[in-house]
Amino acid sequence: IQKDEDFRPNFHFTPKNNWMNDPNGMFYFNGYFHLFFQYYPDDNVWGPMHWGHAISSDMISWKEQPIAIYPDEKGYIFSGSAVVDKNNTSGFGKDGKTPIVAMFTYHDPKGEEKGAIDYQSQAIAYSLDEGQTWTKYEANPVIENPGIKDFRDPKVTWDGIHQQWIMVLAAQDKTLFYTSKDLKNWTRQSEFGEGIGAHGGVWECPDFFPMYVEGTDEVKWVLIQSLNPGGYNGGSGTQYFIGDFDGKKFTPVEQMSNLDSNHPYWIDFGKDNYAGVTWANIPEENGRTLFLGWMSNWEYAQKVPTETWRSAMTVARELKLEKMDGKYLISSVPVKELQSYRSKKYKDQNVQIDGLTKIIDAEKIALSSAEIRFEISDLQKTTYQFKLSNLVGDELLFGYDHSNNEFFINRSKVGQTDFSKEFASEISTAPRISTANNLDGTIIIDRTSIELFFDEGKTVMTEIFFPNRPWETLSVQSMDVPFTLNEIEAYQLTFN
Ligand code: FRU
Repeated sequence: IQKDEDFRPNFHFTPKNNWMNDPNGMFYFNGYFHLFFQYYPDDNVWGPMHWGHAISSDMISWKEQPIAIYPDEKGYIFSGSAVVDKNNTSGFGKDGKTPIVAMFTYHDPKGEEKGAIDYQSQAIAYSLDEGQTWTKYEANPVIENPGIKDFRDPKVTWDGIHQQWIMVLAAQDKTLFYTSKDLKNWTRQSEFGEGIGAHGGVWECPDFFPMYVEGTDEVKWVLIQSLNPGGYNGGSGTQYFIGDFDGKKFTPVEQMSNLDSNHPYWIDFGKDNYAGVTWANIPEENGRTLFLGWMSNWEYAQKVPTETWRSAMTVARELKLEKMDGKYLISSVPVKELQSYRSKKYKDQNVQIDGLTKIIDAEKIALSSAEIRFEISDLQKTTYQFKLSNLVGDELLFGYDHSNNEFFINRSKVGQTDFSKEFASEISTAPRISTANNLDGTIIIDRTSIELFFDEGKTVMTEIFFPNRPWETLSVQSMDVPFTLNEIEAYQLTFN
């Protein structure tokens, strides 16, 4: 029976010890990607929040660093962001050193206990040693609570188009937009969200940035907005909106102007990708929009069957803004850096599938650390179902039901599931966005997670699992007709 360290991912970031939730303060500087995270170093459940820290040169192999920011008498250090203040607009720079400025939410537990509503405010801190140590600004908070109970998770971005700092903040059922010249003085400009999009829970952890529409020089603005609960398959989830921004106000494109809660605009439809945001200061010439989320769900995150560590991050992803049949959408794929860990390769073509057929086993590729690509052309009105299984009968089912244009993941027999009734009681589904007559997919498997990127990432699903033994076999079948698996390509991913 697997437990604890057996469940620790091979290549998804986990803290060595204890509890982690949201990614925070992500920035790139001097060759390193920085990842901070909501961290409670003293227990394996949520508690007084710190910012943990990790660095990586490629967003795949991470090195945990000492805790970056500690809670203090003003409160716990909740989620937030960090920017590289190259022009020293904040004045925090010294001796030619570039200040990194972090903005986070102070959550005052004493206020919360007393039943106040104004116990969350926004504060800043700066680092002159590339994020290792931080000095909190003496005049914190920089944004006082205006009387809103859930008022948190500031995400700052340099808006080169309007030459200003912009910041989005989650405020209960809305996103608030602020601007600043110096990262200290903030002006509230506008808000977005009333009566639009999914509202099954509190809005948290927004992000806001411009993107080019793929293959054009058209620019649109993307608002990422997590919420909990109210996600596409229940619990926490991350929706997005696309629109225009005049430097003060965000206006969604027409296709999104009347979105109800049942909309198809989700960064990830699986249950385990939450509070994800993008890296700041990615070099312009490269221009990528790089994203990573917390690979769990508040429904059961504190109960999953690991002891010494709890929660991992998703694999880092590159987001793309596409226009398909006149409609905008965000797609995402694993960052290309993951490909440099490919070792052993297995490839086959035109595989005839008639009934349940084994396509990969541990001899070909170990399924605890694998990247698998497949393609099926001439889709028929049937369900294509993949199955990961092991020697003790655990199984993870996933695939595509072409009659309903729906992808799915079924964890009901995945091994250890009884720690939470929300974990596996329902099959997760996702709408197919692409209308192509062939289906391709990339499957990223680690010891306790699967990330599915269908149709070049137009529909993405991420879920975690805790099998009693490692997966041995990947097989596939269609529910009623034979078909041809046109291509299957699998790589062992190897990490030292
Ligand atoms: C999202 C969240 C944030 C908050 C943080 C606290 O998962 O609830 O809104 O800042 O976690 O740890």
